[in-house]
Amino acid sequence: MAKNILVLHGPNLNLLGVREPTIYGNISLSTIDSSLRKIASEAMVDISIVQSNHEGHLIDIIHDSHLKRNDFLIINAGAYTHTSIALRDAISAVSIPFIEVHISNVYKRESFRSLSYLSDIAIGVISGLGISGYESALRYAINY
Ligand code: DQA
Repeated sequence: MAKNILVLHGPNLNLLGVREPTIYGNISLSTIDSSLRKIASEAMVDISIVQSNHEGHLIDIIHDSHLKRNDFLIINAGAYTHTSIALRDAISAVSIPFIEVHISNVYKRESFRSLSYLSDIAIGVISGLGISGYESALRYAINY
């Protein structure tokens, strides 16, 4: 079982709730985070949640996950999913098991969103299930 889970939200996800609601819905990031904290606390699992709009900051946090003994990562890298080899390399460097999450179904949208630099090294990918995608990923991580 994972005991110390890291959740990373990438760029623009701080604007959930106001950002393109027809695609991302009306739920705010703080609502998602509260739900994840509740699930983690009921399972008596430690959870750290960080949102950043900066690629280098996300990479630094992934590096620190090694020191902080995070044993599972749930990441919605936002647009960096489709562009960042550096983020992929950071995850590979610390060898942390992870699930890639997207609020929207990226395969139903523009073709450039179908490329992910993370999917082939992820345990799994959840795309298009909104907040329940995060919740399912967390439940999986808790039982991992
Ligand atoms: C996203 C999908 C990405 O393509 C996009 O750049 C995002 C959000 C999602 O959660 O659906 O910022 O990761």
